[in-house]
Amino acid sequence: MKLSSIVVLLLFVLFPISSAMDKYDEMTTTTNDEANDMFMSWLVKHGKIYDTVEEKGKRFQIFKDNLEYIEQHNSGGHSYKLGLNKFADLSLEEYRLLYTMPKKINSKRKLNNVKSDRYFVRSGDVLPDSIDWRTKGAIGAVKDQGRCGCCWAFSSVGAVEAINQIVTSDLITLSEQELVDCDTSYSQGCNGGYTNDAFEFIVRNGGIDSDIDYPYIGMDGICNNNKKSKKRGSIDGYEHVPMNNESALQIAVVNQPVSVSIDSNSRDFQLYASGIYNGSCGIELDHAVVLGGYGTEDGKEYWIVRNSWGVEWGEQGYIRMERNIKDEEGQCGIAMHALYPIKNGYSIKNGLNLPKEATVFVPFLFLFLLEVSLSFI
Ligand SMILES: *[C@@H]1O[C@H](CO)[C@@H](O)[C@H](O)[C@H]1NC(C)=O
Ligand SMILES: *[C@@H]1O[C@H](CO)[C@@H](O)[C@H](O)[C@H]1NC(C)=O
Repeated sequence: MKLSSIVVLLLFVLFPISSAMDKYDEMTTTTNDEANDMFMSWLVKHGKIYDTVEEKGKRFQIFKDNLEYIEQHNSGGHSYKLGLNKFADLSLEEYRLLYTMPKKINSKRKLNNVKSDRYFVRSGDVLPDSIDWRTKGAIGAVKDQGRCGCCWAFSSVGAVEAINQIVTSDLITLSEQELVDCDTSYSQGCNGGYTNDAFEFIVRNGGIDSDIDYPYIGMDGICNNNKKSKKRGSIDGYEHVPMNNESALQIAVVNQPVSVSIDSNSRDFQLYASGIYNGSCGIELDHAVVLGGYGTEDGKEYWIVRNSWGVEWGEQGYIRMERNIKDEEGQCGIAMHALYPIKNGYSIKNGLNLPKEATVFVPFLFLFLLEVSLSFI
């Protein structure tokens, strides 16, 4: 190892510029000892213990492979960095099986896309340069779904908590577990589900219990009917943001946090640490998250996205994803399946999301709300 370092150094001295790039990989390659030290401190930091020596050896190989991948990426001048986050001892396949939804959101339900004129901008209206619902107290702390594929519950509950906070000024943390246990119409608890079904369940049930009363256990449980009857947060309906339109998504999130689905099946997403994510990814939606705002940094536009993988992933549990990309689906399909819950009174009471001559549209809104309520009877 020492000898090879000297050789690399010599090469670098001999060919300082022309071959610097070629040699970069070799130079940044961490030695086995260094990787081992990093693995040891990573184990302590994340409180990881493996059952067998074999398992530990296997995990170290994966860790080392990820470490090399991360170092190579981070030396490449990208707008986002990768890091040894909590998923650093998992292969892409393992990560995908454990943390994304096994059942991809199928296209039929994706296309069930009722357009709404609730949120729009008249010519002349100017959207804010940035919005961050965290600073307005509408978004609760980052949660951790653990090894249960119920991101759909975390995404929809996050949006419901937000609209309730916006209307009532109280941020009450609501129960994902209630959805996992009780919303069994189409969704399948830890085996995946649909954000629209989650909203439908909450509307039908007349509300949802608090997280404190009906706490998260990270596995499928039996529906607790007593707790299901407690309603600490409620909504009156939900709507889809017009599909594949980042402008429409922007207008929606100016008004309230939105439940969005994305394709998280990539090594870069798994190991994301910070920055504006523009890594390659598909549009096979396998994960649901909360869209909490947007902004611009160094000329690059981004979405603020709350994930449900704890604070040890990304930027304290958040990821900033590139906004207004050339593909209409948005980065990782973020504009494909976006929904927001409706709470009566918000649009009408709150001037902020209405055009200036709001009164003209109020009768129309009433008709729309009536239609929405009728469709849930
Ligand atoms: C991501 O952004 C960087 C610049 O910040 C650019 O060099 C790179 O080509 C972009 N990647 C993709 C996949 O668009
Ligand atoms: C996208 O949404 C915006 C805002 O609602 C609208 O003005 C625009 O026409 C939409 N674009 C497409 C292609 O539908």
